[in-house]
Amino acid sequence: MATNITFHPGTVTYEERCSLLNQKGATIWLTGLSASGKSTIATALEQHLLSLKKSAYRLDGDNIRFGLNKDLGFSPKDREENIRRIAEVSLLFASSSTLTVTSFISPYKADRDLARALHAKHEPALPFIEVFVDASVEECEKRDPKGLYKKARAGEIKEFTGISAPYEAPEKPEIHIDANATSIEESVRIITEHLISKGYLT
Ligand code: PPS
Repeated sequence: MATNITFHPGTVTYEERCSLLNQKGATIWLTGLSASGKSTIATALEQHLLSLKKSAYRLDGDNIRFGLNKDLGFSPKDREENIRRIAEVSLLFASSSTLTVTSFISPYKADRDLARALHAKHEPALPFIEVFVDASVEECEKRDPKGLYKKARAGEIKEFTGISAPYEAPEKPEIHIDANATSIEESVRIITEHLISKGYLT
C-alpha cells in the first residue's frame, strides 16, 4: 500500500473536455460466458462507433491478459483482481471522454458491481452500461471456437467458467442480448440505440 501520495487534479474539467472534444465518455461493459460473442460484438461496436467519428476503444479479456494482467490466472481471487484493474482502467478511459467497450467474462456480480460503483463515484458520475451477452453453456460449447470447452470437459483446463467455475448472470443489466438468437449487427444496433436514447452518443 503506497503512503505519502498526493492526488494532482488537472486544470480541465470532465465537462470542459467533453465540450472541447464534442464527445461524452462511457463504459459499455459486456459480460457473458466464453464463446458467447462478447469479443465479436465489442469489435463490431468499436468499429461502428469509430465510423461515427467517435473515439471508442476496446479492452478485451484475452488481450489484456497478454500484458497488464499477465500475472493473473483464473482463480476467484485472480478474476477479482483482473476485473478490479479493468474497472479502474475503463474508468480512466471513460473519464478521458472515450466510449470504452470492455469484454470480460466478469463472472462475479460483486466484481461487476464494484466496476459500476467506481463509475458512480466519479465526479461527475460516468455512465456504466452493463450488457449481458446471454448464450447458454450448451450453445457456447457447441460453438467452442478455441476448443476450450473440449479441454475443460477433458479436465485439461481447471476452473473453466460454466463447466467447473461459476457464472453469476446479471439480474438487472442495462441491456440483455439473447446471444443465441441475435446477430452481431443487431447487437451493435441495440447498444448504439441505447447510447443515443440516454444521450451518451451525440
Ligand atoms: S475473467 O473471468 O473475466 O477474469 O476472464 P477474462 O479475463 O475475460 O478471460 C477470459 C478468456 O480467457 C480464456 N480462458 C478462460 N476462460 C474462462 N475460464 C478459464 N479457466 C479460462 N482459461 C482461459 C478464454 O479464451 C476467455 O476468452 P473468451 O473471449 O471469454 O472466450
